[in-house]
Amino acid sequence: MAEKKIKRYTVTAALPYANGPVHIGHLSGVYVPADIYARYQRSKGNEVGFICGSDEHGVPITIRARKEGVSPQEIVDKYHAIIKDSFQKFGISLDVYSRTSSDTHRDTASAFFKKMYEEGKFVEKTSEQYFDEANQQFLADRYIKGTCPKCGYEEAYGDQCEACGTSLSPTDLIHPKSTISGEKPVLKETKHWYLPLNDYNEWLSEWIIDGHKEDWKSNVYGQCKSWIDSGLQPRAVTRDLNWGVPVPVDGAEGKVLYVWFDAPIGYISATKDWAKSNGKDWKPYWQSPDTKLVHFIGKDNIVFHCIIFPAMLKGHGDYILPDNVPANEFLNLEGNKISTSRNWAVWLHEYLEDFPGKEDVLRYTLCANAPETKDNDFTWKDFQARNNSELVAILGNFVNRAIVLTHKYYDGKIPSAGKFEAIDQEVIDRLKAIPNEVSKSIEAYRFREALGNMMELARIGNKYLADTEPWKLIKTDAERVKTIMNTALQICANLSILAEPFIPFTAEKLRKLLNLNKLHWENAGGNDLLKENHSIKKAELLFEKIEDEAINQQINKLMETKAANELAQKPAIPQKEEISFDDFMNMDIRTATILEAEKVKKSKKLLKFLVDTGIDKRTIVSGIAEHYKPEDLVGKQITVLVNLAPRKIMGIESQGMILSAEDKDGSLALMQTEKLVSNGSQVG
Ligand code: 2FM
Ligand code: ZN
Repeated sequence: MAEKKIKRYTVTAALPYANGPVHIGHLSGVYVPADIYARYQRSKGNEVGFICGSDEHGVPITIRARKEGVSPQEIVDKYHAIIKDSFQKFGISLDVYSRTSSDTHRDTASAFFKKMYEEGKFVEKTSEQYFDEANQQFLADRYIKGTCPKCGYEEAYGDQCEACGTSLSPTDLIHPKSTISGEKPVLKETKHWYLPLNDYNEWLSEWIIDGHKEDWKSNVYGQCKSWIDSGLQPRAVTRDLNWGVPVPVDGAEGKVLYVWFDAPIGYISATKDWAKSNGKDWKPYWQSPDTKLVHFIGKDNIVFHCIIFPAMLKGHGDYILPDNVPANEFLNLEGNKISTSRNWAVWLHEYLEDFPGKEDVLRYTLCANAPETKDNDFTWKDFQARNNSELVAILGNFVNRAIVLTHKYYDGKIPSAGKFEAIDQEVIDRLKAIPNEVSKSIEAYRFREALGNMMELARIGNKYLADTEPWKLIKTDAERVKTIMNTALQICANLSILAEPFIPFTAEKLRKLLNLNKLHWENAGGNDLLKENHSIKKAELLFEKIEDEAINQQINKLMETKAANELAQKPAIPQKEEISFDDFMNMDIRTATILEAEKVKKSKKLLKFLVDTGIDKRTIVSGIAEHYKPEDLVGKQITVLVNLAPRKIMGIESQGMILSAEDKDGSLALMQTEKLVSNGSQVG
């Protein structure tokens, strides 16, 4: 029996945590491929729901809020807005960008849990967990720090040691302490609900190991197989926390659904929000067996999307399962792992500001270099080269030549094609074949290959003009040039269709230049998309060259980040030998105001000051000329060690010492009081 043709697609892109903005790693791993896929399916005339939203629960958000001294809601409101805006500006064509702190989501996740609970799909278990007595709360793993039993690192978290990478559980830590109160936590009994994944082992094995060996990517399949083969264990789906979806069961006060239980249900709630505001029914997108559900994620999310969420969907019983989960590996940046905490990233919202109008250059680079089968590296030099030698030199150049010549020879009107020669026929044959090649690659989730196929058509067009040289032929065989130009222009029209999923801003620009309405994928391959005498617009460049200066600016920005990180890593100078209280009291430190300041002649380092110490007005020489301009210091209240024995420096008697702090990088900060006080006030 012929396979039934699927027409409806639910395409999800991993819900980003709303505790920071989105960076190029997220984009190349998840959002760019998901967008290419969704745009392609729409162009094929299929029904698509392209779903995403912010993941607003979980411990990292509460930690960030605590650090910044604001509420978790304020944190998620801030980043939800930034992420939503940057996705939209970058052309990620989501049908909905929702959020898991919404009412729809709370109701959906609650009902999902409740149905499974009532049908006995969970196991209740009591266990001992760390409790902070000072704050009367159970501690999530990330709220506990202690010494790693493996490597001795003293700041290891309750779930992982970041020094040696070992996965830990909080009770493994030596000298555990609560990061909230700083106190030693105590073990206390608490009840939680577990999803008995062990009961799903056999079913998962049949569904994935036997059923998806051929069509799932090998990195995804391999990870799933190793989880399943090593035997799945029950997983707690609730937590003791005050931020999340409350567990909808009596006796579960102070407990919420585990973020990885509620987040994937967020895809369903987002679909509901979308359907509601568009007069659609959400159900077919999640319940109809002829819908193809595809999850785009990064490799760290594989177990949740291939094992846990499907087990939840199966256990619930009302939903379809994912058809595919094309997870990508990770993208590095200039040879190092992208890191939010170390600010080692290219942030989307900053890129959009730094490179206005160049959304497609980044989309192109991230797709051409996507970590589809292994981790990959993004470099600014590669970004520049992709733009200058591929987008400008191949695609942009070809389209520009075709349009300029059409205006030059035919006043911007499409000439008719005459008899095709072998060289034309060859090009037309490739033109007919390439759309299928692009389709095949996209449908196999090989987006780099698909982009390469699309660019091959632009290369063919470029070479065709270079080989046939219409600008020479026009003098001797004007009829022949009409055929060549018609063919070249048909390639341009085809490119406007094939480029759309990858570089949609350019595709739109190209359509406008060609004066074409949006065409569909099924039109691709035709060599009659532009009819004879159809008028096209005057040429405009599709891409501009990116100069070294713009690239160097970005590289410098990263260098600054690197230097700041290195500085933060550098340990403080060890403590000096112990002194007695009297030793300290012998030092007479006073507040003083700088009355005059000038450079000491013939010295690079020294400044001469007249200061009012409250006791007297005196001269002090200080070696801070490389850090401060004298005129900026006059009038400042500072601190001075006034009973230091006078010393002659470059012939000037210095009567005291101005106090300052020297940072790890050698920069100076003058020691000032927190508010103005009378000169001569004692410091101690
Ligand atoms: O890893 C992450 O960024 C998660 N916030 C992804 C969640 S995807 C889905 F399950 F919601
Ligand atoms: Zn360790």
